[in-house]
Amino acid sequence: MTDTTRKSADDLRSMRWFGPDDLRSFGHRSRMMQLGYSEEEFRGRPVIGILNTWSEINSCHGHFRERAQDVKRGVLQAGGIAVEMPSLSVDESFTKPTSMLYRNMLAMETEEMIRSHPFDGVVLMGGCDKTTPGLVMGAISAGVPCIYLPAGPMLRGHYAGRILGSGSDAWKYWDERRAGNISDPEWLGIQGGIARSVGTCMTMGTASTMTAITDALGLTLPGASSIPAPDAGHQRMSANCGRRIVDMVWEDLTPDRILTDSAFRNAAIVAMATGCSTNAVVHLIAMARRAGVNLTLDDLDALGRVTPLIANVRPSGKNYLMEDFFYAGGLRALMKQIEGRLDTSCVTVTGDTVGENLAGAVVFNDDVIRPLSNPVYHEGSLAVLRGNLCPDGAVIKPAACDPKYHAHEGPALVFDSYLEMKKAVDDEYLDITPDHVMVLRNVGPQGGPGMPEWGMLPIPKALIKQGHRDMLRISDARMSGTSYGACVLHVAPESHVGGPLALLRTEDIIRMDLDARQLNMLVDDEELDLRRAAWAPPEPRFQRGWGWMFSRHVGQADTGCDFDFLERGFGLAAGEPDIY
Ligand code: FES
Repeated sequence: MTDTTRKSADDLRSMRWFGPDDLRSFGHRSRMMQLGYSEEEFRGRPVIGILNTWSEINSCHGHFRERAQDVKRGVLQAGGIAVEMPSLSVDESFTKPTSMLYRNMLAMETEEMIRSHPFDGVVLMGGCDKTTPGLVMGAISAGVPCIYLPAGPMLRGHYAGRILGSGSDAWKYWDERRAGNISDPEWLGIQGGIARSVGTCMTMGTASTMTAITDALGLTLPGASSIPAPDAGHQRMSANCGRRIVDMVWEDLTPDRILTDSAFRNAAIVAMATGCSTNAVVHLIAMARRAGVNLTLDDLDALGRVTPLIANVRPSGKNYLMEDFFYAGGLRALMKQIEGRLDTSCVTVTGDTVGENLAGAVVFNDDVIRPLSNPVYHEGSLAVLRGNLCPDGAVIKPAACDPKYHAHEGPALVFDSYLEMKKAVDDEYLDITPDHVMVLRNVGPQGGPGMPEWGMLPIPKALIKQGHRDMLRISDARMSGTSYGACVLHVAPESHVGGPLALLRTEDIIRMDLDARQLNMLVDDEELDLRRAAWAPPEPRFQRGWGWMFSRHVGQADTGCDFDFLERGFGLAAGEPDIY
């Protein structure tokens, strides 16, 4: 337990709104009474904002209205007052062109709603991909005590005796359907069985990766990220979040005391050991920079080289899903396996250290959570490439692709838009070989804009029919955490701003050497200079609104795609609002 000095009621942030004997505070108190509260219910008690990303179209957060009631129960039991507030519900399935376009919007909303309201502490309810980094980035910048409540993974998918994994099996069976191997009734059965409860995708996709990272950072109750959404334990965890945040307020346990350099290093090591989504790179760097921690692509690559992947969970693992991971002991058990590599002195939302939180954690199935002596893959989840195609970096997931592509040389087939690429891959007579390298550009942070998850380019029908299921693909886009294959992503700088990817031409030879972390086009410098001189920037995609603002301020993938005007400062950086 860390040393704590408890606040007094007069020290509460909310007392700026409710305490003074002036006209404005009279107004605040009278409006609370209009809401049905007596003065003794809100004055001098921690006011807890519950930022709830529920919506009727966010299937992953379908249980959040009920869980908010559990949080309120906990807050009240601990002597606080709970205020539920709707937050932008950025769902992964329906938000187009890509949910990533709205991560920073959620971060801005979170920061501003916390700052502008009399919240002494907040519970952040998220889980579906971008909701986790969006809520956490905003809460870091707001700086009041916060605890993250992860939605939890959905149950395993199921159809005709087969276990189905979110995303991963959609891609896999879609290829089989394109090859003519799946009937209409079978396809309908898979459609109905692949997502059969509330909760987030139950592979180690972006949602499970980001909630695991948040858990490892110390922002959730220990192991909370692994509890399946429909489990009664998830309700109990929610109520515990409510109880704990009230004490965090009295202890003034703000995010800056939790989110240290070591906490981010712990989170990166855990991410590598879990077989994390490639999206982890972008979000982890963005969250770290909000917290004033300079985490870089090279740091992540260095940790990836020495951290074995031990969670046998798809898509990097072979057999299991998040429900199995929970039964095997969950994230606490995984962290226990790698405890010697973590800084166990880091403080967490419990007020205890990582080491104290891991006491008693046990692995119940060592095929799901492997010992270090028997990893799924000898290195971590991600590798960072550099070279004349990606001077500021690119990312690949070595364990999720056929090892024969770890060293590869072949001619480029370049597409400037998704539609152009789609037309080609659907052409059964496309002139392409398995050695070709498919390239999609103009789909980066500014080019997309929003860096859509288009980086797992479909294998052309012409190759599918020959039995091929993988090939080397390169883009400045991202890919879903549930995706797999030899996909090089996040090429930086992106082509839209004139990165070298913009200079590549079809039939140029590309060489990738994963061991050497190199990705190059074999084109000499004089020729590249000529092409650069002839290059003209593409027309902007948006002339107004959010897309316009996003395109002007978003950073490149290697720096986390945050807005340039939001990166600075940590914790109430913009100061408390004036109350006059
Ligand atoms: Fe919500 Fe995958 S669609 S977590």
